[in-house]
Amino acid sequence: MNTLERLWYTVDGYFADQLRPPDPILTAAMRDGAALPQIQVSELLGGFLSVLARAAGARRVLEIGTLFGYSTIHLARAAGEDGATVSLEYSPEHAAVARGNIERAGLSERVEILEGPAVESLPSLVDGDPFDLVFIDADKENNPSYLDWALRLTRPGSVIVVDNVVRAGAVADAESDRPDVQGTRTMVEAIGAAVREGTLEATAMQSVGAKGYDGFLIAYVL
Ligand code: SAH
Ligand code: DHB
Ligand code: MG
Repeated sequence: MNTLERLWYTVDGYFADQLRPPDPILTAAMRDGAALPQIQVSELLGGFLSVLARAAGARRVLEIGTLFGYSTIHLARAAGEDGATVSLEYSPEHAAVARGNIERAGLSERVEILEGPAVESLPSLVDGDPFDLVFIDADKENNPSYLDWALRLTRPGSVIVVDNVVRAGAVADAESDRPDVQGTRTMVEAIGAAVREGTLEATAMQSVGAKGYDGFLIAYVL
């Protein structure tokens, strides 16, 4: 970490200490997920998802990309006792750790993890009620498909959040040969088209913090 990155980390720690109380369930989830990629949302972004879900009154939540269930726990708690969260995870190993963490959090009745490639699970959700909030946070090259599905599975008033749209600024490079960057750019352009058609309002927020320089996109279904 360079000096500036250390400062971002320290400031995240300051706000987390003040605003995010010690949480033994989340601490245990991190411990059980320690052998998996450490690409879960930061403590503060988890807090953002929770505040957002509560502010939106979200009861039905869809997450694409579970990992060990860290963001899932934030979202499912915020969706309340009568909430229902569906989270899609490709890796059986990740899904198994997540299920343990969700069980420990007392959320098993309110969270369903669908194992397998998200694009194979998503069609099974069309028969259910629309989702109030969708959090897209899986393989970025598939972001265009995830957006299509999110639009199909939501209703006017729903909120869609996409993590990691900045990637230390890489998103701004139209010539990038990275599939994740191109997937995100194609999705952003599709969101732009929907904004011009008047079916979405959207914005994007760059962020720095304990997890470096990245950001998220947030859209409201009109
Ligand atoms: N939302 C989590 C982090 C998810 S990391 C959190 O913040 O706590 C991204 C996850 O997406 C990984 O667990 C990875 O296995 C999963 N993933 C990758 N490709 C996928 C696919 N095609 N379908 C479903 N999940 C996928
Ligand atoms: C990566 C994925 C994420 O969802 C994230 O928040 C950070 C990093 C990754 O694939 O590198
Ligand atoms: Mg992410």
